[in-house]
Amino acid sequence: METKQIQELIRAALAARGFAYAPYSRFKVGAALRSTDGRVFTGCNVENAAFTPTSCAERTALFKAVSEGVREFDAIAIVGSLDGQTNTLVTAPCGVCRQALFEFTGPALPVILARSEDDYILTTLGELLPYGFGPQNLA
Ligand code: THU
Repeated sequence: METKQIQELIRAALAARGFAYAPYSRFKVGAALRSTDGRVFTGCNVENAAFTPTSCAERTALFKAVSEGVREFDAIAIVGSLDGQTNTLVTAPCGVCRQALFEFTGPALPVILARSEDDYILTTLGELLPYGFGPQNLA
């Protein structure tokens, strides 16, 4: 992936983080998922007083896309940090989000774990979810 494209996706994730609804954890996350047709679907975490209904930023972005008929993706960028802070750690998707993404992308999806536009780790879903269980297992 080109640096310019990576940075564009990180910027979209940072903007989406601004919409995070995280009054309980105060940990705000933004994700930007690019579809193969070049569109970008953003998402933030949406928490809930009952905790369990909380949606992570990654699944928010994924479900927005799928619910609009888009199922093919070629990259995702994720940024997260406590409200008002810059994290020293990158925010990697939780296990549930790894599995949700795997359903549509398989292991090749490039995953950008970013602290800022210029500070990120580029990995793949297969590295984050080795031997992932997916549709092919049921074929
Ligand atoms: N969260 C995400 O949105 N994505 C991640 O990759 C990690 C965790 C959210 C869920 C919850 O609202 C808050 O971050 C703290 O766990």
